[in-house]
Amino acid sequence: MIDVKKVRKDFPTLKYLPKLVYLDSAASSLKVNVAIDAVNHYYTHLGANVHRGTYQLSHDATELYEKSRDDVAQLINAHRNEVVFTRGTTSALNMIAHMYRETLKPGDEVITSELEHHSSVLPWVIATKKSGATLKYVPLSEEGRITVEGFKKVLTDHTKVVALTYVSNVFGYITPIEEIIKLAHEKGAMVVVDAAQAVPHMPVDVKKMDCEYMGFSGHKMFGPTGIGVLYGKEELLNKLEPCEYGGEMIDDVTKDQIILKEAPMRLEAGTPVIAGAIGLGAAARYIKSIGADNMHEHTLNLKKYAQEKLDLIPGVTIYNKTAKTGILTFNVEGVHPHDIATFLDEYDIDIRAGKHCAYLIHQAMGLQSTLRASFHIYNDEKDCDQFVEAVRKAKNFFSAL
Ligand SMILES: Cc1ncc(COP(=O)(O)O)c(C=O)c1O
Repeated sequence: MIDVKKVRKDFPTLKYLPKLVYLDSAASSLKVNVAIDAVNHYYTHLGANVHRGTYQLSHDATELYEKSRDDVAQLINAHRNEVVFTRGTTSALNMIAHMYRETLKPGDEVITSELEHHSSVLPWVIATKKSGATLKYVPLSEEGRITVEGFKKVLTDHTKVVALTYVSNVFGYITPIEEIIKLAHEKGAMVVVDAAQAVPHMPVDVKKMDCEYMGFSGHKMFGPTGIGVLYGKEELLNKLEPCEYGGEMIDDVTKDQIILKEAPMRLEAGTPVIAGAIGLGAAARYIKSIGADNMHEHTLNLKKYAQEKLDLIPGVTIYNKTAKTGILTFNVEGVHPHDIATFLDEYDIDIRAGKHCAYLIHQAMGLQSTLRASFHIYNDEKDCDQFVEAVRKAKNFFSAL
Protein backbone atom coordinates (compact mmCIF):
# COMPACT_ATOMS: atom_id res chain seq x y z
CA MET A 1 0.00 0.00 0.00
CA ILE A 2 1.22 3.47 -0.83
CA ASP A 3 0.69 6.31 1.62
CA VAL A 4 -0.03 9.02 -0.98
CA LYS A 5 -0.19 11.83 1.58
CA LYS A 6 3.32 10.97 2.72
CA VAL A 7 4.62 10.37 -0.80
CA ARG A 8 3.34 13.75 -2.01
CA LYS A 9 5.64 15.46 0.50
CA ASP A 10 8.60 13.89 -1.33
CA PHE A 11 7.78 15.81 -4.53
CA PRO A 12 8.51 19.55 -4.24
CA THR A 13 6.47 20.45 -7.34
CA LEU A 14 3.36 19.45 -5.41
CA LYS A 15 4.39 21.70 -2.53
CA TYR A 16 4.69 24.70 -4.85
CA LEU A 17 1.63 23.76 -6.91
CA PRO A 18 -0.66 22.10 -4.38
CA LYS A 19 -3.68 22.22 -6.71
CA LEU A 20 -1.85 20.47 -9.54
CA VAL A 21 -3.31 17.20 -10.77
CA TYR A 22 -0.37 15.79 -12.66
CA LEU A 23 -1.43 12.96 -14.94
CA ASP A 24 1.39 12.97 -17.46
CA SER A 25 3.98 10.84 -15.71
CA ALA A 26 4.38 8.60 -18.75
CA ALA A 27 5.93 11.61 -20.48
CA SER A 28 7.99 12.69 -17.48
CA SER A 29 7.42 12.00 -13.82
CA LEU A 30 7.68 14.67 -11.17
CA LYS A 31 11.07 14.79 -9.50
CA VAL A 32 11.65 13.38 -6.04
CA ASN A 33 13.40 15.50 -3.38
CA VAL A 34 16.17 12.96 -2.74
CA ALA A 35 17.18 13.06 -6.43
CA ILE A 36 17.08 16.87 -6.46
CA ASP A 37 19.14 16.94 -3.26
CA ALA A 38 21.69 14.51 -4.72
CA VAL A 39 22.13 16.66 -7.84
CA ASN A 40 22.37 19.75 -5.67
CA HIS A 41 24.91 18.09 -3.38
CA TYR A 42 27.17 17.26 -6.31
CA TYR A 43 27.08 20.82 -7.68
CA THR A 44 27.30 22.46 -4.25
CA HIS A 45 29.87 20.30 -2.50
CA LEU A 46 31.81 18.51 -5.22
CA GLY A 47 31.80 19.74 -8.81
CA ALA A 48 34.97 17.86 -9.78
CA ASN A 49 35.23 15.38 -12.63
CA VAL A 50 35.06 11.61 -12.07
CA HIS A 51 37.68 8.89 -12.62
CA ARG A 52 40.36 11.44 -13.54
CA GLY A 53 41.49 13.26 -10.42
CA THR A 54 44.13 12.10 -7.96
CA TYR A 55 42.67 14.42 -5.34
CA GLN A 56 39.95 13.83 -2.73
CA LEU A 57 37.24 15.91 -4.41
CA SER A 58 37.41 13.81 -7.54
CA HIS A 59 37.53 10.59 -5.50
CA ASP A 60 34.37 11.66 -3.66
CA ALA A 61 32.55 12.50 -6.91
CA THR A 62 33.67 9.19 -8.42
CA GLU A 63 32.46 7.29 -5.38
CA LEU A 64 28.97 8.78 -5.65
CA TYR A 65 28.85 8.30 -9.41
CA GLU A 66 29.82 4.64 -9.13
CA LYS A 67 27.52 4.07 -6.17
CA SER A 68 24.68 5.19 -8.42
CA ARG A 69 25.67 2.53 -10.89
CA ASP A 70 25.34 -0.03 -8.08
CA ASP A 71 21.92 1.28 -7.09
CA VAL A 72 20.61 1.30 -10.64
CA ALA A 73 22.04 -2.19 -11.26
CA GLN A 74 20.33 -3.46 -8.12
CA LEU A 75 16.98 -2.03 -9.21
CA ILE A 76 16.97 -4.11 -12.40
CA ASN A 77 18.97 -7.08 -11.03
CA ALA A 78 21.99 -6.44 -13.26
CA HIS A 79 25.71 -6.54 -12.55
CA ARG A 80 27.20 -3.05 -12.12
CA ASN A 81 29.39 -3.55 -15.22
CA GLU A 82 26.23 -4.02 -17.26
CA VAL A 83 24.95 -0.50 -16.57
CA VAL A 84 26.11 2.13 -19.05
CA PHE A 85 24.99 5.68 -18.32
CA THR A 86 23.50 7.35 -21.40
CA ARG A 87 21.49 10.46 -22.14
CA GLY A 88 18.24 8.48 -21.90
CA THR A 89 16.27 5.68 -23.53
CA THR A 90 16.57 7.29 -26.93
CA SER A 91 20.35 7.35 -26.91
CA ALA A 92 20.57 3.84 -25.39
CA LEU A 93 18.39 2.31 -28.13
CA ASN A 94 20.06 4.35 -30.88
CA MET A 95 23.48 3.25 -29.67
CA ILE A 96 22.56 -0.40 -30.09
CA ALA A 97 20.99 0.05 -33.54
CA HIS A 98 23.98 2.08 -34.64
CA MET A 99 26.52 -0.42 -33.31
CA TYR A 100 24.72 -3.42 -34.84
CA ARG A 101 24.15 -1.75 -38.20
CA GLU A 102 27.55 -2.92 -39.42
CA THR A 103 26.78 -6.55 -38.59
CA LEU A 104 23.48 -6.67 -40.50
CA LYS A 105 23.39 -7.69 -44.16
CA PRO A 106 20.77 -8.28 -46.88
CA GLY A 107 18.74 -11.36 -46.01
CA ASP A 108 18.93 -10.67 -42.26
CA GLU A 109 15.71 -9.73 -40.52
CA VAL A 110 14.93 -7.33 -37.70
CA ILE A 111 11.60 -7.60 -35.90
CA THR A 112 9.88 -4.66 -34.28
CA SER A 113 6.27 -3.51 -33.89
CA GLU A 114 3.92 -0.68 -34.72
CA LEU A 115 3.35 -0.27 -31.01
CA GLU A 116 6.84 1.16 -30.48
CA HIS A 117 7.74 4.64 -29.37
CA HIS A 118 9.73 6.29 -32.16
CA SER A 119 12.98 5.82 -30.29
CA SER A 120 12.53 2.03 -30.38
CA VAL A 121 11.55 1.75 -34.05
CA LEU A 122 13.18 4.60 -36.00
CA PRO A 123 16.78 3.53 -35.27
CA TRP A 124 15.97 0.11 -36.80
CA VAL A 125 14.22 1.66 -39.81
CA ILE A 126 17.51 3.44 -40.51
CA ALA A 127 19.73 0.47 -39.60
CA THR A 128 17.85 -1.88 -41.95
CA LYS A 129 17.72 0.72 -44.75
CA LYS A 130 21.48 1.26 -44.52
CA SER A 131 22.41 -2.42 -44.20
CA GLY A 132 19.90 -3.86 -46.67
CA ALA A 133 18.37 -6.06 -43.95
CA THR A 134 14.58 -6.50 -43.80
CA LEU A 135 12.43 -4.85 -41.13
CA LYS A 136 9.39 -6.86 -40.08
CA TYR A 137 6.49 -5.78 -37.86
CA VAL A 138 4.75 -8.11 -35.43
CA PRO A 139 1.09 -8.33 -36.48
CA LEU A 140 -0.78 -6.78 -33.54
CA SER A 141 -3.95 -8.10 -31.95
CA GLU A 142 -7.23 -6.29 -32.56
CA GLU A 143 -6.63 -4.32 -29.36
CA GLY A 144 -3.19 -3.29 -30.58
CA ARG A 145 -1.19 -5.69 -28.41
CA ILE A 146 2.02 -7.53 -29.16
CA THR A 147 1.25 -11.21 -28.64
CA VAL A 148 3.37 -14.37 -28.69
CA GLU A 149 1.17 -15.71 -31.52
CA GLY A 150 1.77 -12.57 -33.57
CA PHE A 151 5.48 -12.71 -32.86
CA LYS A 152 5.73 -16.34 -34.01
CA LYS A 153 4.32 -15.29 -37.38
CA VAL A 154 7.33 -13.07 -38.16
CA LEU A 155 10.11 -14.96 -36.39
CA THR A 156 12.30 -16.94 -38.80
CA ASP A 157 15.76 -18.49 -39.00
CA HIS A 158 16.87 -15.17 -40.52
CA THR A 159 15.84 -13.07 -37.51
CA LYS A 160 18.91 -11.38 -36.07
CA VAL A 161 17.44 -8.65 -33.89
CA VAL A 162 14.17 -8.21 -32.02
CA ALA A 163 13.47 -4.68 -30.80
CA LEU A 164 10.28 -4.35 -28.75
CA THR A 165 8.70 -2.28 -26.06
CA TYR A 166 8.12 -3.83 -22.65
CA VAL A 167 5.24 -1.48 -21.77
CA SER A 168 3.51 0.58 -24.46
CA ASN A 169 3.55 4.31 -23.81
CA VAL A 170 0.27 4.68 -25.74
CA PHE A 171 -1.87 1.85 -24.39
CA GLY A 172 0.08 0.65 -21.35
CA TYR A 173 -0.02 -2.97 -22.52
CA ILE A 174 2.64 -5.22 -21.05
CA THR A 175 4.42 -7.26 -23.72
CA PRO A 176 4.86 -10.98 -22.94
CA ILE A 177 8.55 -10.25 -23.24
CA GLU A 178 10.00 -13.29 -21.47
CA GLU A 179 8.28 -15.75 -23.80
CA ILE A 180 9.24 -13.67 -26.82
CA ILE A 181 12.88 -13.56 -25.72
CA LYS A 182 12.95 -17.34 -25.28
CA LEU A 183 11.59 -17.84 -28.79
CA ALA A 184 14.02 -15.29 -30.26
CA HIS A 185 16.96 -17.01 -28.58
CA GLU A 186 15.92 -20.36 -30.03
CA LYS A 187 16.54 -18.75 -33.44
CA GLY A 188 19.80 -17.17 -32.31
CA ALA A 189 18.40 -13.62 -32.39
CA MET A 190 19.21 -10.97 -29.82
CA VAL A 191 16.58 -8.85 -28.11
CA VAL A 192 16.62 -5.12 -27.34
CA VAL A 193 13.95 -4.06 -24.86
CA ASP A 194 12.55 -0.54 -24.56
CA ALA A 195 11.84 -0.36 -20.84
CA ALA A 196 11.18 3.38 -20.66
CA GLN A 197 7.67 2.75 -19.29
CA ALA A 198 8.52 -0.44 -17.41
CA VAL A 199 11.34 0.46 -15.01
CA PRO A 200 9.49 3.52 -13.66
CA HIS A 201 6.30 1.58 -12.97
CA MET A 202 6.90 -2.08 -12.13
CA PRO A 203 9.54 -4.62 -11.12
CA VAL A 204 12.03 -5.33 -13.91
CA ASP A 205 14.53 -8.17 -13.68
CA VAL A 206 16.98 -8.38 -16.57
CA LYS A 207 18.35 -11.73 -15.48
CA LYS A 208 14.90 -13.31 -15.45
CA MET A 209 13.97 -11.60 -18.71
CA ASP A 210 17.30 -12.59 -20.28
CA CYS A 211 17.31 -9.78 -22.85
CA GLU A 212 20.59 -8.79 -24.46
CA TYR A 213 20.01 -5.04 -24.12
CA MET A 214 17.54 -2.69 -22.50
CA GLY A 215 17.12 1.08 -22.28
CA PHE A 216 15.34 3.41 -19.84
CA SER A 217 15.32 7.06 -18.75
CA GLY A 218 15.90 8.82 -15.45
CA HIS A 219 13.31 11.55 -15.94
CA LYS A 220 10.41 9.09 -16.02
CA MET A 221 11.47 7.49 -12.71
CA PHE A 222 11.54 10.61 -10.51
CA GLY A 223 15.15 11.38 -11.50
CA PRO A 224 16.87 14.10 -13.51
CA THR A 225 16.55 14.71 -17.22
CA GLY A 226 19.54 14.05 -19.47
CA ILE A 227 20.43 10.73 -17.88
CA GLY A 228 19.38 7.17 -18.65
CA VAL A 229 20.72 3.68 -18.90
CA LEU A 230 21.77 1.18 -21.48
CA TYR A 231 21.74 -2.25 -19.88
CA GLY A 232 23.68 -4.92 -21.78
CA LYS A 233 24.99 -8.39 -20.99
CA GLU A 234 28.58 -7.85 -19.93
CA GLU A 235 30.22 -10.11 -22.51
CA LEU A 236 28.29 -8.32 -25.28
CA LEU A 237 29.10 -4.81 -24.05
CA ASN A 238 32.76 -5.80 -24.05
CA LYS A 239 32.56 -6.68 -27.74
CA LEU A 240 30.64 -3.62 -28.91
CA GLU A 241 32.31 -1.07 -31.12
CA PRO A 242 31.63 2.27 -29.36
CA CYS A 243 29.70 5.02 -31.12
CA GLU A 244 31.89 7.68 -29.53
CA TYR A 245 35.57 7.83 -28.75
CA GLY A 246 37.19 10.19 -26.27
CA GLY A 247 38.47 10.59 -22.75
CA GLU A 248 38.47 7.98 -19.98
CA MET A 249 37.35 5.03 -22.09
CA ILE A 250 40.79 3.69 -22.96
CA ASP A 251 43.47 1.60 -21.26
CA ASP A 252 46.15 2.69 -23.69
CA VAL A 253 46.62 4.64 -26.90
CA THR A 254 49.41 4.75 -29.45
CA LYS A 255 49.39 6.67 -32.73
CA ASP A 256 47.67 3.79 -34.48
CA GLN A 257 46.12 1.68 -31.76
CA ILE A 258 43.37 2.13 -29.20
CA ILE A 259 43.01 -0.31 -26.34
CA LEU A 260 39.60 0.14 -24.78
CA LYS A 261 38.71 -0.35 -21.13
CA GLU A 262 36.23 -3.02 -20.11
CA ALA A 263 32.50 -2.22 -19.95
CA PRO A 264 30.91 0.01 -18.90
CA MET A 265 33.75 2.56 -19.20
CA ARG A 266 34.49 1.71 -22.84
CA LEU A 267 31.02 2.98 -23.72
CA GLU A 268 31.10 6.17 -21.65
CA ALA A 269 33.48 8.38 -23.62
CA GLY A 270 34.06 11.89 -22.31
CA THR A 271 32.88 13.56 -19.13
CA PRO A 272 29.62 11.86 -18.21
CA VAL A 273 26.44 13.44 -16.88
CA ILE A 274 27.83 13.17 -13.36
CA ALA A 275 25.14 15.02 -11.43
CA GLY A 276 22.41 13.30 -13.46
CA ALA A 277 23.80 9.86 -12.69
CA ILE A 278 24.09 10.69 -9.00
CA GLY A 279 20.47 11.92 -9.04
CA LEU A 280 19.38 8.78 -10.85
CA GLY A 281 20.99 6.63 -8.18
CA ALA A 282 18.99 8.47 -5.53
CA ALA A 283 15.80 7.96 -7.57
CA ALA A 284 16.55 4.23 -7.87
CA ARG A 285 16.98 3.99 -4.10
CA TYR A 286 13.71 5.85 -3.63
CA ILE A 287 11.86 3.41 -5.91
CA LYS A 288 13.36 0.54 -3.95
CA SER A 289 12.12 2.07 -0.71
CA ILE A 290 8.59 2.43 -2.13
CA GLY A 291 8.66 -0.99 -3.79
CA ALA A 292 8.22 -1.47 -7.53
CA ASP A 293 5.37 -3.92 -6.89
CA ASN A 294 3.56 -1.34 -4.79
CA MET A 295 4.00 1.30 -7.51
CA HIS A 296 2.50 -1.04 -10.07
CA GLU A 297 -0.44 -1.99 -7.88
CA HIS A 298 -1.17 1.62 -6.96
CA THR A 299 -1.07 3.01 -10.49
CA LEU A 300 -3.13 0.13 -11.86
CA ASN A 301 -5.77 0.66 -9.16
CA LEU A 302 -6.02 4.34 -10.07
CA LYS A 303 -6.31 3.49 -13.75
CA LYS A 304 -9.16 1.09 -13.03
CA TYR A 305 -10.89 3.59 -10.76
CA ALA A 306 -10.65 6.45 -13.27
CA GLN A 307 -11.59 4.16 -16.15
CA GLU A 308 -14.83 3.04 -14.49
CA LYS A 309 -15.93 6.65 -13.98
CA LEU A 310 -14.73 7.93 -17.34
CA ASP A 311 -16.56 5.12 -19.08
CA LEU A 312 -19.87 6.49 -17.80
CA ILE A 313 -19.50 9.74 -19.77
CA PRO A 314 -21.44 9.45 -23.03
CA GLY A 315 -19.22 9.97 -26.08
CA VAL A 316 -15.99 8.88 -24.35
CA THR A 317 -14.16 6.00 -25.98
CA ILE A 318 -11.51 4.23 -23.93
CA TYR A 319 -9.01 2.33 -26.07
CA ASN A 320 -7.09 0.28 -23.52
CA LYS A 321 -9.61 -1.09 -21.04
CA THR A 322 -7.65 -4.32 -20.53
CA ALA A 323 -4.26 -2.66 -19.97
CA LYS A 324 -2.71 -3.57 -16.63
CA THR A 325 -0.64 -0.47 -15.98
CA GLY A 326 -1.41 3.12 -15.00
CA ILE A 327 -2.08 4.45 -18.49
CA LEU A 328 -5.57 5.41 -19.65
CA THR A 329 -6.03 6.32 -23.30
CA PHE A 330 -9.23 7.73 -24.70
CA ASN A 331 -11.01 10.23 -26.90
CA VAL A 332 -14.09 12.38 -26.58
CA GLU A 333 -16.41 12.18 -29.56
CA GLY A 334 -16.39 15.26 -31.75
CA VAL A 335 -13.72 17.13 -29.78
CA HIS A 336 -10.06 17.37 -30.71
CA PRO A 337 -7.77 15.92 -27.99
CA HIS A 338 -5.79 19.17 -27.86
CA ASP A 339 -8.99 21.08 -27.02
CA ILE A 340 -9.76 18.71 -24.16
CA ALA A 341 -6.20 18.85 -22.79
CA THR A 342 -6.15 22.65 -23.01
CA PHE A 343 -9.54 22.82 -21.28
CA LEU A 344 -8.27 20.54 -18.49
CA ASP A 345 -5.22 22.75 -18.03
CA GLU A 346 -7.61 25.50 -16.93
CA TYR A 347 -8.40 23.24 -13.96
CA ASP A 348 -4.70 22.52 -13.28
CA ILE A 349 -5.06 19.01 -14.68
CA ASP A 350 -2.17 17.94 -16.90
CA ILE A 351 -2.76 15.17 -19.41
CA ARG A 352 -1.15 14.42 -22.75
CA ALA A 353 -2.80 14.89 -26.15
CA GLY A 354 -1.47 13.87 -29.54
CA LYS A 355 0.31 10.84 -30.93
CA HIS A 356 2.74 10.40 -28.01
CA CYS A 357 5.77 9.93 -30.32
CA ALA A 358 4.10 6.79 -31.64
CA TYR A 359 2.67 7.58 -35.07
CA LEU A 360 2.61 3.96 -36.25
CA ILE A 361 0.21 2.67 -33.63
CA HIS A 362 -2.13 5.57 -34.26
CA GLN A 363 -2.05 4.77 -37.98
CA ALA A 364 -2.52 1.05 -37.30
CA MET A 365 -5.55 1.67 -35.08
CA GLY A 366 -7.04 4.28 -37.42
CA LEU A 367 -6.66 7.04 -34.83
CA GLN A 368 -5.73 10.63 -35.59
CA SER A 369 -4.61 11.32 -32.04
CA THR A 370 -5.55 10.39 -28.49
CA LEU A 371 -5.70 11.66 -24.93
CA ARG A 372 -3.57 9.93 -22.34
CA ALA A 373 -3.81 10.18 -18.57
CA SER A 374 -0.99 8.43 -16.76
CA PHE A 375 -0.89 7.89 -13.03
CA HIS A 376 1.90 7.61 -10.51
CA ILE A 377 2.47 7.18 -6.81
CA TYR A 378 1.69 10.82 -5.98
CA ASN A 379 -1.80 10.55 -7.50
CA ASP A 380 -4.87 9.46 -5.62
CA GLU A 381 -8.58 8.87 -6.21
CA LYS A 382 -9.29 12.56 -5.64
CA ASP A 383 -7.07 13.33 -8.65
CA CYS A 384 -9.04 10.79 -10.68
CA ASP A 385 -12.36 12.35 -9.62
CA GLN A 386 -11.20 15.83 -10.58
CA PHE A 387 -9.90 14.55 -13.89
CA VAL A 388 -13.12 12.75 -14.80
CA GLU A 389 -15.25 15.70 -13.72
CA ALA A 390 -13.17 18.06 -15.87
CA VAL A 391 -13.52 15.76 -18.89
CA ARG A 392 -17.28 15.79 -18.34
CA LYS A 393 -17.26 19.59 -18.22
CA ALA A 394 -15.08 19.78 -21.33
CA LYS A 395 -17.40 17.44 -23.18
CA ASN A 396 -20.44 19.56 -22.25
CA PHE A 397 -18.66 22.80 -23.08
CA PHE A 398 -17.54 21.72 -26.56
CA SER A 399 -20.85 19.97 -27.34
CA ALA A 400 -22.68 23.21 -26.65
CA LEU A 401 -20.58 25.19 -29.14
C1 LIG B 1 8.10 3.63 -24.43
C2 LIG B 1 9.06 4.76 -24.58
N1 LIG B 1 10.22 4.55 -25.19
C3 LIG B 1 11.13 5.52 -25.34
C4 LIG B 1 10.91 6.78 -24.88
C5 LIG B 1 11.95 7.84 -25.09
O1 LIG B 1 12.47 8.24 -23.85
P1 LIG B 1 13.46 9.49 -23.77
O2 LIG B 1 12.78 10.62 -24.48
O3 LIG B 1 13.59 9.72 -22.31
O4 LIG B 1 14.74 9.10 -24.40
C6 LIG B 1 9.69 7.07 -24.26
C7 LIG B 1 9.39 8.43 -23.81
O5 LIG B 1 8.26 8.86 -23.80
C8 LIG B 1 8.75 6.03 -24.09
O6 LIG B 1 7.59 6.24 -23.47
